[in-house]
Amino acid sequence: MNATSAAALIRAKREDQRLSAAQWREVAQGIAENTWCDAQLGAFAMAVAWRGLDLRECRDFTFALRDSGRCLNWSDLPGPVLDKHSTGGVGDCVSLALAPLVSACGGFVPMISGRGLGHTGGTLDKLESIAGYDVNPSPERMHRVVREVGCAIVGQNADLVPADRRLYTVRDVTATVDVPDLIIASILSKKFAGGAQALVLDIKTGNGAQTPDETAAMALATRMHAVAAGSGIALAAALSDMDQVLGRDAGNALEVRAIVDLLSGRACDPRLRELTLALSAELLCLGGIEPDHPGATARLQRALDCGEAAERFARMVAALGGPADLFEHPQQCLPQAPVQRPVVASHAGFIQSIAVRELGECVVALGGGRRVPGAPIDHAVGLAGVRGLGERVDQGEPLAIVHARTASDADAATARILGAFRVGEAPAPPAPLLRWLPQAQAPRAKTATVTA
Ligand code: URA
Repeated sequence: MNATSAAALIRAKREDQRLSAAQWREVAQGIAENTWCDAQLGAFAMAVAWRGLDLRECRDFTFALRDSGRCLNWSDLPGPVLDKHSTGGVGDCVSLALAPLVSACGGFVPMISGRGLGHTGGTLDKLESIAGYDVNPSPERMHRVVREVGCAIVGQNADLVPADRRLYTVRDVTATVDVPDLIIASILSKKFAGGAQALVLDIKTGNGAQTPDETAAMALATRMHAVAAGSGIALAAALSDMDQVLGRDAGNALEVRAIVDLLSGRACDPRLRELTLALSAELLCLGGIEPDHPGATARLQRALDCGEAAERFARMVAALGGPADLFEHPQQCLPQAPVQRPVVASHAGFIQSIAVRELGECVVALGGGRRVPGAPIDHAVGLAGVRGLGERVDQGEPLAIVHARTASDADAATARILGAFRVGEAPAPPAPLLRWLPQAQAPRAKTATVTA
């Protein structure tokens, strides 16, 4: 096939032809250099949605996107460069704890994160509830923080995978955000450009996930694993449960507070802690820092117990412009909502189901999320003390505590929360929290050499 113009490449994909690696590079360049107009991007994305990509094409597109901009190079670091991606859930603030934990154990974590859109929160929005935290540092500043502290959680720099940035904007308005091959190329191109040697993927399933259907989530995880195979990047993928909120909190400042508590050894939800430790342990193994999960978990536990992980987080926050006393004075450093109101069970029983997406939407409606990119959010609002599946509640006992800006916002949230919980007589066992994909054991990184 000799398809050299944008229209010819779109037609080829529309007719279900396979594009070569050179053609995928042409597509990515056309997007990044603006020689393709938005209409062509939209038509191309829709052709991919209809026809799909085979594995080779998905891999070629991923690497072509990666190479549309600058890749980060961490070859000066004396340890493995490790990263994590989650498809997003309600209350999922694992990244905030994983980065300092893994760095406290000898890994380096330059984590490029995103903002919330829709019913799930975004790591950057959570960090921005800490006054002064700069999610867009210069590349030099980011590099310095990663080298000196061991981790930095920041946003996507303008020249990191520019083709994805543009394509995503068009996908957002052409009903192609949920196309699996486009999701995979988008996520992995950014992670590969970020220079990680090992990556752990947390694919959420359950009613609060972007991919609620377990078969679809499994297919996504398997395909991502296959795309990464042969890339030189060690990757492990897991499915994790989103049929209940992860942890007890959903809302930006509330989740940061939960992480401050986790890292400083205060009370912490066991599921949030378990998932954080499991994903962190896998990264230590993939990075060649520890040989197995029991050893890795013990090391992570020591990093928590001795305060090293908390110190890393505190240093990262201070190095990126936040307060130096977040751990000493979390109440003063994080915004608090003026209205805090418990939502109580109308009758006693066991929590049998939770409409998690509805709880996420409730946080958005309170102002804690956004419906259009770039809209401002209220970092203080959200839900705290959210109860979990299988738990017993008495009549009048709180199912959650609404943190709202106004009393009328709290009223509206209360009605939605009551509708989201089903309380019945028989206990319903919750789904397993985490399942690793069987082929998760990718080659382990032994050195810190990165050839980005
Ligand atoms: N879906 C995408 O397509 N890209 C991302 O970066 C995240 C989710």
